[in-house]
Amino acid sequence: MPNIPLVDLKANYARHKEGIDAAMKEVIDNTAFIQGPAVKQFEADFAAFSQVKYAVGRVASGTAALHLAMVAAGIGPGDVVATPSHTFIATVEAISYTGATPRFIEIDPETGLMDPQELKKNIDGVKLVLPVHIHGRPVDLDAIGAICADAGIPLIEDAAQAQGSDYIKADGTKVRCGGYGLAACFSFYPGKNLGAFGDAGAVTTNDEAFAKKVAQLRDHGRTSKYVHEMLGFPERLDTRCRPPS
Ligand SMILES: Cc1ncc(COP(=O)(O)O)c(C=O)c1O
Repeated sequence: MPNIPLVDLKANYARHKEGIDAAMKEVIDNTAFIQGPAVKQFEADFAAFSQVKYAVGRVASGTAALHLAMVAAGIGPGDVVATPSHTFIATVEAISYTGATPRFIEIDPETGLMDPQELKKNIDGVKLVLPVHIHGRPVDLDAIGAICADAGIPLIEDAAQAQGSDYIKADGTKVRCGGYGLAACFSFYPGKNLGAFGDAGAVTTNDEAFAKKVAQLRDHGRTSKYVHEMLGFPERLDTRCRPPS
């Protein structure tokens, strides 16, 4: 039996070696190691790819994306966040970092995704709904979005595994994962659909003020040089070279 690895980062690198090496050299030549011009370009490219209106807050990892998005949404101690019973641990860690408590919602055993009926039954007292597009398969965003709208609470997508996934509505319209609710959180861990050269993540949103808040939170609460208006975090994205076009 041939040994075919599920993820082969070396083969991927070999395919694009020339472009990647040149981009890496440019980063080092410019010594623009943190939030450099390549990161800004990536922000614009990923926002366009994810079909989001305004902005992408680039952050250090998918976990940081989830944590910062929840802080920006006002989630904190005493709050309850509904999330599926089947996900990677980071979803739940990020909820715990805010001081909130996770409420686990049963999944549909066929899809492994949050079951909207179970969410509906357990929505009382929930301050935020955080469904997960596990294995890149989108949750039923319309059903979950309607429950959130009825309850008057925001929806943030854990899209760590779903770069480029399309949610298909009942009428056949496609909606790219990343802009359905208040925000979506992506991971660019090396083995993901779109992997970085190290840890990396992003928050996408169609809400300009929310994007600004996430950008501020990831950079020590900074608005401009030496002006720090809120308690933030050291969660900026290093310049880890953009994929060659
Ligand atoms: C569903 C899910 N959420 C969050 C994360 C966290 O991403 P990161 O490893 O970039 O912190 C992952 C990573 O595997 C994930 O699969």
